[in-house]
Amino acid sequence: MAKDGSEMGINTRLAHSGNNPRDYFGFVNPPVVHASTVLYPDAASMAARSQKYTYGTRGTPTTDALALAVDALEGSAGTIVVPSGLAAVTIPLLTFVSAGDHLLLVDSVYHPTRNFADTMLKRLGVEVEYYDPHVGAGIAALIKPNTKVVFTESPASNTFEVQDIPAIAKAARAAGAIVMMDNTWATPLYFKPLDHGVDISIHAATKYPAGHSDVVLGTVSANEACWKQLYEGFCTLGCCSGPDDVYQVLRGLRTMGVRLEHHQKSALAIAAWLEGQPGVARVLHPALPSHPDYALWKRDFCGSSGIFSVVLEGGGQRQQHAFLDALKIFGLGYSWGGYESLAVPVFLGDRKIAKGPYDGPLIRLQIGLEDVEDLKADIMRGLEAATAI
Ligand SMILES: Cc1ncc(COP(=O)(O)O)c(C=O)c1O
Repeated sequence: MAKDGSEMGINTRLAHSGNNPRDYFGFVNPPVVHASTVLYPDAASMAARSQKYTYGTRGTPTTDALALAVDALEGSAGTIVVPSGLAAVTIPLLTFVSAGDHLLLVDSVYHPTRNFADTMLKRLGVEVEYYDPHVGAGIAALIKPNTKVVFTESPASNTFEVQDIPAIAKAARAAGAIVMMDNTWATPLYFKPLDHGVDISIHAATKYPAGHSDVVLGTVSANEACWKQLYEGFCTLGCCSGPDDVYQVLRGLRTMGVRLEHHQKSALAIAAWLEGQPGVARVLHPALPSHPDYALWKRDFCGSSGIFSVVLEGGGQRQQHAFLDALKIFGLGYSWGGYESLAVPVFLGDRKIAKGPYDGPLIRLQIGLEDVEDLKADIMRGLEAATAI
């Protein structure tokens, strides 16, 4: 079931998209093809490269299975599979921007995306400008004749502002700029960027698609207009991924729907409970009615995932560290989307626009698949430690 079946339920599509078992003796999973060389039957077909697979870097039945499954979810013309979520950001940017181009980046972007733009893209002569995540249709005023790409990420990394993607896409398209979106938080299950006017949808498949904190991978999906250039850029850069990792992500995708439902339910229950706890100033979760962007989230998204942030009531780094050090179930570790709960201190020192003010330090929580009551008890330990100072 590739690139069709969109009328079926999401879990049905997750279970059956990508490979066709009949292509490989009826086995339900695709083969894990370890490949560099692909043989050609004769010199003429070799010269013309006139066969489906030509070399290991350009795609295999394993990468195709994942790419087609992601296309079925995104509604995209094509998907490339790359070695990390960060590569899923850098490869399309390198492919589409040139020296002298202007890039508009949301200020609340994932920090390594910002670092890539501020170092490598600037060195290559790209003009980088940051904009407010709440800019909406106001992006039109920032677009210049040389604006090539408007890069979005919604909700924001760590602070979870929701962007008005349809309004931004409309203004960008009218000006001939390409819109890219890091959609890792929602996954294509809860937000479909291409349906809202985005040209290129980016995912750190490391998170919910992989789901078990043991694989690093990224996917980039393009609409018809951008697909050819994206695929050429991918082949030019040689950024293919190892087949075992690709297989692991396809395996993870099969259960992503049921895992996400659990993450969603637990995260919302904990976020709502946290709003009433002593020592908490605010909870930054866009699916809470108290969130300033709740109406926008409700209009465009059809679900919420498992990470959000909590703002402590006053204090600074000492309180933040006391909270983190008191946790027994939540691990202190980067990344998210796995089965286990994690907590990280939030640093907003790189921001130019979307930096608060907030009443106290921020902590980002990734709510895993553990039992909610156990996680609440752990968070209570953190809050008590922070307020005891
Ligand atoms: C929003 C977002 N995009 C991209 C990435 C990068 O993913 P990876 O860790 O696979 O490089 C992350 C990682 O935390 C992320 O949070």
